[in-house]
Amino acid sequence: MQRTTKAKNLGLKSLSLLVIVTLFLCCAGGHLGKNNSGQFKNGMVVSANEIASQVGVDILKKGGNAVDAAVAVQFALAVVYPNAGNIGGGGFMVYRSAKGEVNTLDFREKAPAKANRDMYLDTLGNPIVDKSLYGQLAAGVPGSVAGMVEAHQKYGKLKWADLVAPSVALANNGFKISARQASELNGLKNRFTKLNPLGTALVKDTKWAEGDLLTQTELGKTMKRIEEQGRAGFYEGTVAEAVVTEMNRGGGIITKEDLKNYQAIWRKPLQSKYRGFDVVTMPPPSSGGIALIQLLKSVEPYPLKKWGFNTDSTVQLMIEAERRVYADRAKHLGDPDFYKVPVEGLMADAYVKKRMASFNWEKASTSAEISAGEVAPAEHEETTHFSIVDKEGNAVAITTTLNGSYGAGVVVKDAGFLLNNEMDDFSVKPGSPNMYGLVGGEANAIAPGKRMLSSMTPAILAKDGDLYMIVGTPGGSTIITSVFQTILNVVDFDMSMQNAVAAKKFHHQWLPDDVAVETNALDSLTSEKLKAKGYKFVSRGAIGRVDAILKTKWGYYQGGADPRGDDKAVGW
Ligand code: GLY
Repeated sequence: MQRTTKAKNLGLKSLSLLVIVTLFLCCAGGHLGKNNSGQFKNGMVVSANEIASQVGVDILKKGGNAVDAAVAVQFALAVVYPNAGNIGGGGFMVYRSAKGEVNTLDFREKAPAKANRDMYLDTLGNPIVDKSLYGQLAAGVPGSVAGMVEAHQKYGKLKWADLVAPSVALANNGFKISARQASELNGLKNRFTKLNPLGTALVKDTKWAEGDLLTQTELGKTMKRIEEQGRAGFYEGTVAEAVVTEMNRGGGIITKEDLKNYQAIWRKPLQSKYRGFDVVTMPPPSSGGIALIQLLKSVEPYPLKKWGFNTDSTVQLMIEAERRVYADRAKHLGDPDFYKVPVEGLMADAYVKKRMASFNWEKASTSAEISAGEVAPAEHEETTHFSIVDKEGNAVAITTTLNGSYGAGVVVKDAGFLLNNEMDDFSVKPGSPNMYGLVGGEANAIAPGKRMLSSMTPAILAKDGDLYMIVGTPGGSTIITSVFQTILNVVDFDMSMQNAVAAKKFHHQWLPDDVAVETNALDSLTSEKLKAKGYKFVSRGAIGRVDAILKTKWGYYQGGADPRGDDKAVGW
């Protein structure tokens, strides 16, 4: 009898424990929303599109590692997320193995050999805006396929063809577009029609609607060539010829030699610490890594946790840090293969401290009084980011881009992929803003074979030798501040990954001298207090589309898929 009661009690206790654990696992992620599907032990992919996330998880389930999954997701996004997923663009990968080895891969586009610094200026020396944004001349030499081949050769486990095959099928069989995609394709119909007089799969006679099948057979043929021939299937032969024919049709300058000569480059990662977390991120030609580390160092001495999320002190400090960091970006950052970027100097503790010493809590600084520091020598925004972790704990953060939404708007005839408009990320004319309002100087002037400066900030955080967070986002100039805020949201403000990603954001970039704020990001008390000190706020739509993964202390992966898009965390 006693034994039965004990057993009953034990049973009840186990049941309660089970309920508590289940409730915890369901709820620890905070408000999960439609974009997030919970917490998982074996691996996770968070990307801008559910189909692509699922392709990645299928690869993980087949025994592929995080890099295998990343290659498959990159190609899948090129099909199912054509506004930024790409084979005609470029990007950056940050890698951290389960054992803590780190590496970064630069597959950023390059200026063609025939490019020159004044190629987008009129006879009076003024920028002709559309010239670096639309059409064949706006395109840099694509890097994505070379990047995926490099990543796979170094770290991949599964066969190359198995990673590309899902995208061949997706392109040939088609996929159902979302309401958001239907509306984008309808909105861009005129541009696509003008830029693609021979027709493209992205245009149809009637209006696109949610659930319509988008079939891209020309892209399917290119994907098949990549599946069978790897790098040569894209940079040589039929596809290279199609690119050159496309260039000739619209006044572009990419040649067969440009394509054949393109190389992705392994670069030494930037590494720093923030409140005891190891931060690994991308070096130049991304400005994002340096800027992120400068921002974290700028705010680290202050008690953000005590002040709280988006209070006036927190927001003011972050704005002033951003003002100084973006002023540095404009002057000091460019392709390190062409310009001596003072990487160590910009990230030095003493330098960051000196930069922050000049601000006044009583009154907003003005961007006119802030310029780049003297450093000791040493979109429409569209890009997309995905985060992946595998069963062993290997982690990949990839941010990849065509630059503007649907890049240059040109789909290479017979090859089916969109050209990037990444040339606009150069400083077309020193001091003149690009499409993100960013200004730059000599460091980022156009030169043949040079990589244009980027803001993409894929990053991985670790704690005590163990993976902690994988994070990144699209958003042009707002990429850096969105990644910065997401990290603070988790580390300083104790948010779950999903809540950190969903939290409203603000952004300042030195010039223009105002602060862009998502609707309702700041409460009226905070904004009134800051306005009284001279801060100017400009309301705007979505800032960033962060896709991130957090490893909880219980060893589960918690996804943060941005509700601003169709993004989706899929785990297993
Ligand atoms: N095209 C956006 C960036 O690379 O920052």
